[in-house]
Amino acid sequence: MANASYRRIEVRPLTGALGAEIFGADLSRLDDEMFAEIRRAFLEHLVIAIRDQALTPAQQKGFAARFGALSTHRFLKGLEGHPEILEIRREPTDRKIFAEGWHSDVTYQERPVLGSMLYAKEVPAIGGDTLFANQYMAYDAMTPGMKAMLDGLIGIHGGRNVYGDEPTSAITNAKLVADRKTAAETETEHPVVRTHPETGRKALFVNPHYTLRFKGWSEEESKPLLAYLFEFSVRPEFTCRLRWHDGSLGMWDNRCTQHTPIDDYFGKRRVMHRVTIEGDRPR
Ligand SMILES: [Fe+2]
Repeated sequence: MANASYRRIEVRPLTGALGAEIFGADLSRLDDEMFAEIRRAFLEHLVIAIRDQALTPAQQKGFAARFGALSTHRFLKGLEGHPEILEIRREPTDRKIFAEGWHSDVTYQERPVLGSMLYAKEVPAIGGDTLFANQYMAYDAMTPGMKAMLDGLIGIHGGRNVYGDEPTSAITNAKLVADRKTAAETETEHPVVRTHPETGRKALFVNPHYTLRFKGWSEEESKPLLAYLFEFSVRPEFTCRLRWHDGSLGMWDNRCTQHTPIDDYFGKRRVMHRVTIEGDRPR
């Protein structure tokens, strides 16, 4: 169902929780009015998939730059000639996929990215969807007692689970620009509940890849509550599932969502170009 408040684009929500497909936009010929509608859809739906695009790397970067300064991955190598573009490639013979499991991107950074954008270069006809979860909804659904406790907590985020000795995803040393030890030992702190700088809404801000413990708590003490939050924050009613097509440009608000890729396409190739936008320090 089209949303009547958009004049230049057609916006079709994916689920009652979050996510929308956008039709009728040609990002290679973007004007300010159309961008304003896309940006509004992004803030309203948290995840958008702009269908049927044919973009060069420079055009993808140009579109992303309208949201803010582009971010270059601290630990992983970018595309030749385009360091801001990370190629996420799964070959038919690769056993593991990139970044499996629920997470928000790069929250081990003091300023995690505002949003991430994947441009689907080549995707399987079936399989390789991405799940997203709305972290405003997760926060809103909790009891006043739980909210009051979480409002005062600080989470310690680090790269250990992803970049440690036993990486949980397909990050090989060849893809690293930093040494693995530096990546694994990077830690920073963020409020467990953050206020979105643009919408003013509160969102839960922990994720199983990077949130290691609460500040002032031991890992042992933190574990049960974190495990509860990790499970609660991705309940089915907070999610949507995005199916990719060649030429889809998907983008998520990394400040109020988590996502996970789905590994159901072994034996097939999937190639995405990822661009991320600099974010601010969570508050
Ligand atoms: Fe990710």
